[in-house]
Amino acid sequence: MSQKDETICTCNDVSRQKVENAISEKGLKTIEEVGDHTDAGTMCGGCVDEIYLLLEKINGKVEL
Ligand code: FES
Repeated sequence: MSQKDETICTCNDVSRQKVENAISEKGLKTIEEVGDHTDAGTMCGGCVDEIYLLLEKINGKVEL
């Protein structure tokens, strides 16, 4: 399994790839928007740091 296929949100079984695609294709800017579109981060919140890092990597910054 490559790193891209890694599940970053185990609560909702959402992969890193899915989150990255959603951010870049839909132009998501916030952790909340990522949750709305992918369900990642909407349960325990344990993956929110990972989502933050992906937002930062793709957008260069994170809007809170
Ligand atoms: S691991 Fe993503 S909300 Fe729990």
